[in-house]
Amino acid sequence: MLLTDEEKRMRDGAEGEAVAAAMDLLIRYGEALGAERLVETRNVAGTMTQPSPAKRKLFEEGGWARAYAVINLDCDRDIEIPRMRVPTCQLQHGFDEDAAGLTPYPAQSIELQRDAESFYSERGVNILATCTPYQVGNLPVRGEHCAWMESSAVVYCNSVLGARTNCEGGASTGAASLTGKIPYWGNHLPENRFATDLIRADVPIDSFQDWGMFGYYVGEIVQEARPAVIGSLAQPDLADLKHFGAATATSGGVELYHLPGITPEAPTLEAAFGGGRIPEPVPYGERERRRVYETLNAQGTSTDVDFILLGCPHASLDQLAEVAHLLEGRRIHADTELWVMTPRALRTMADRNGYTRIITEAGGRVLTDSCPAMSKAAPPGTRVFATDSAKQAHYLPAILGIEAWFGTLAECIDAALTGVWRGGLR
Ligand code: F3S
Repeated sequence: MLLTDEEKRMRDGAEGEAVAAAMDLLIRYGEALGAERLVETRNVAGTMTQPSPAKRKLFEEGGWARAYAVINLDCDRDIEIPRMRVPTCQLQHGFDEDAAGLTPYPAQSIELQRDAESFYSERGVNILATCTPYQVGNLPVRGEHCAWMESSAVVYCNSVLGARTNCEGGASTGAASLTGKIPYWGNHLPENRFATDLIRADVPIDSFQDWGMFGYYVGEIVQEARPAVIGSLAQPDLADLKHFGAATATSGGVELYHLPGITPEAPTLEAAFGGGRIPEPVPYGERERRRVYETLNAQGTSTDVDFILLGCPHASLDQLAEVAHLLEGRRIHADTELWVMTPRALRTMADRNGYTRIITEAGGRVLTDSCPAMSKAAPPGTRVFATDSAKQAHYLPAILGIEAWFGTLAECIDAALTGVWRGGLR
């Protein structure tokens, strides 16, 4: 791989052992990918603080420096970890104290994570603790080269913001943080950003639920390709696109899509395909919509619901306001739990707006940092849960061995209030 003089100096240790290890990792990674060079990045979203048995063991052996060296730099020497070279944020991790006692999630993990937060924030990592960094201050601009993890964030970054990132991992983001470099391949290359597939909605896509179901279909069809999406699309908002992208990255591995006339790199359908051949569209009609709905509800048999999960990807302030509005003056069923996951920064705003109080007075909870799928924990005794998130309906039954219902926010709130699932496709 072609290296600049600066990159060679980093590799050779001029900036310390940790930076040398990071550069060595990036060179090996880039060569394995066939990248010809590295590209500068000043925006890294990775993860270091999530507690895991392996991380705990490394921490006990040699502190957080050892855990970072082994997990994020693939280096088994004892090295000092310096301040991050470029702006870096921490994504979602495990549950924090606000979930203590609500789940079987171990208190030790909460403590360990707190300790990790101190270590990494002292080294310049912004602890955003969310899968939606773009909702709370990490908003890259069009064309900016980034190194992000988390599939739902990656697809939002590429598609909605027009910034450029591959779906990175703990090691490559760890190394990017210390060097400000990432291999120049995949979604960083302009020629790899044009659409490859065309999907056409023949039914209206005009609600949060429909954007999620449609995304789930698109992901199933194109898998890891780059779809352009046309048809009966109402103007989406941030929450719709968050749901749509997360769903494409759940049933498939979509990292970049185009909505001609809406997303920044596709002012027209022709532009989405870079002036190249436009394929025949794959239709999404009533039959496909029903099939997606049935797939997302295939894990539900009992209509006795004991857990409602909202906020996947983490809820926006508007979504929190809507939940509060639907719950105001009401009380959820004694046998159900309702959680809304959101970034901590937005919970602060929800507190200030009174949304948290309304949700809490109704018996629900506004939780931060994580989610049941990420922390592998739900309220004790959960057998059946309901959600408005296609991603969570897809993953949680397999992760926790529970039944799932997928529906609208109103249906989820109804289930929270009655303890009964009464949803159905409209
Ligand atoms: Fe976020 Fe958890 Fe969903 S990390 S995208 S809320 S699965």
